[in-house]
Amino acid sequence: MKRETWKTKVGLIFAAAGNAVGLGNLLRFPSKVALYGGGAFMIPYFVALFLLGIPLMLIEWVIGRYAGAKGHGSMTGIIGSFFNHSYGSRVLGSIGVSIPTLIVCYYIYIESWTLGFAFMSLLGQMPEPVVSDDPRIAMEPFVSFYKDYTKPSPIAVVFLIITLIINWVILQRGIVKGIELTAKYGLPILIAMGLFLGIVSLSMNGWKGLEGLLFIYKPDFSKLTDPQVWLEASGQIFFTLSLGMGAIATYASYVKKNEDVVKAGLYTAGINEFVEVVIGASIAIPAAFAVFGAMSVPELAKEGTFRLGFITMPAILMSLPIGSLLSAVWFFLLFIAALTSSLALTQPLVALLEDEMRWSHAKAVNVSMIIVSFGAFLSAYVKGFIDDVDFWAGTFMLLFFGLLEIIVFVWIFGVHNFYKEINTNSFIKIPKGLIYFYAVVSPLFLVLLLYFWGIVQLPKVLSQTDPNVLISRAFVIFIILLIAFFSIESRRRYLSGPHM
Ligand code: ALA
Repeated sequence: MKRETWKTKVGLIFAAAGNAVGLGNLLRFPSKVALYGGGAFMIPYFVALFLLGIPLMLIEWVIGRYAGAKGHGSMTGIIGSFFNHSYGSRVLGSIGVSIPTLIVCYYIYIESWTLGFAFMSLLGQMPEPVVSDDPRIAMEPFVSFYKDYTKPSPIAVVFLIITLIINWVILQRGIVKGIELTAKYGLPILIAMGLFLGIVSLSMNGWKGLEGLLFIYKPDFSKLTDPQVWLEASGQIFFTLSLGMGAIATYASYVKKNEDVVKAGLYTAGINEFVEVVIGASIAIPAAFAVFGAMSVPELAKEGTFRLGFITMPAILMSLPIGSLLSAVWFFLLFIAALTSSLALTQPLVALLEDEMRWSHAKAVNVSMIIVSFGAFLSAYVKGFIDDVDFWAGTFMLLFFGLLEIIVFVWIFGVHNFYKEINTNSFIKIPKGLIYFYAVVSPLFLVLLLYFWGIVQLPKVLSQTDPNVLISRAFVIFIILLIAFFSIESRRRYLSGPHM
C-alpha cells in the first residue's frame, strides 16, 4: 500500500494554508481582539506567534516529513516511531488524534451554519434590516434569526447533513484529488473574496472603518499583566495555525521525501497570518466600528464568538445596496475557510485508521465520518456542547500537546538530530543556537501558560453544574478512549504487517 503524496508544490502550500486558515481567522480572531481590547491583545499575540507559533509549525512539518517517510501520518504512529511503538507512546500520541477529532465535531456544525446562511442570503431569506443608530434595535431581527436557525431548525439540520456529505466525498477522493484540488480552487477564491469584503468594510461611512483597524493596531500596554489576555492570545495562535492538533504534521506526512519543509512551514504561517491580521482584521471589526461606533464593539464581542460573524455582519451587510449578495459572499468566504480546515481536522483520524489499522482508504474515511457525524449532531442538540468541547480540546489540550511535541521531537529526539533533519533540503540554514533557544524558552512559556490556565480558567469551568456538561465531558472521554483503543489495537497490526 503506497501512501499518497501531494502532487504539486503549489497544491501542497495551498492545502497547508487551507488547513490553517479557517473560522479561527475570520470569526475567532476578531471576537477575541474586540473582547480583549484591540492593541492590548496584539502584543501577547505576536509574542506567542514568535515563541510558540513559528517553532511549533516547523516542528510539526519536520516531524511529519520524517515519520511520513516511515509510513506514519497520525500522531499515534509519529510519536510511537520514536519509542519503538511501545504501548505508552502510542497512547500518548493518540491524544494528538483525539484533539482534532473533538474539534472537528463542533467545527463542522458551525461550518454548516455558514453554508446555510450563505444560501439563505442568496435566496433572499435573511431578515429585512432595521435602520437605527442603536445596535440593539438594528440587530434585533438578526438575533432572532440566528437563535431560530441554531436551535437547531430543520433547515440547519439539512445543511449539517449537506456539509457532512461534502466533507465525506472530498475525503474519499483522497489527498490529491480531494484535499489538494479543493484547496487549489478554494484558497484563491477565499483570498479574493476576503480582500473584497475588507475594502467594503473599511470604506463604510466614508472610510470610518479605518478607525476599527486603528483600534486593533494601536499598541496598548495596559493589559499586559493580565494572564487571561496572554492565555487567550496564545490559545488563538495555536488554534489559528492548527498547532498542537497533529493536523499540520499529518499533512506534512504526505510530502515527498526531499521536500523543503522549512519553506512549507513558513508559507503556511505566513499565509495564515496574512489572512488573519490583514484580511480578518479588516472585515468584522472595521464594519462594526463604522456603523455602530467604537463603544459598541467590545460590548458586541461580550455576547459570544459568533455574535460578530452571524449577527452583526449580516445586519450591516444587508443594509447596504446588494446586501443579500454581500451577505452571501461573507458566508461563502467563511464556508470555504471552514471546509479546508475541517478536512484537515478529520484527516489525522483517517490517517490513523489507514496507516496504523491498515484499513482501506474508503473504510477509514467512512468510520471517521461516522464518528464526526455523531459528534456534530451532539453539537447541534446538546446545549453548551460547543463551548465545553472547545474549552477542553480547543484550548487546554492544544497547550498540553504542544509542550509534549517539543519534549519528544526536540528533547528526546535530540537537538542535534532535529538540527540535521530541519536543515535537510531547507532553503535557509536554521542555526543550532536558535533551536536551543526555542527548546528552552518555548516550553517555559507553555508551562507558565498551563499554570495560569490551571488557576484562572479551570476553576470557572469545573464549577459548572449543568447536566448537559456531563454529556459533553462524557463525549470527550469517549473519543479519547476510542482513539487510544485504535492506537493500541493497531500496534499489533503494525508490528506484524509489511513495513513501508
Ligand atoms: N486553524 C483552523 C482555524 O483557524 C482550525 O479555523
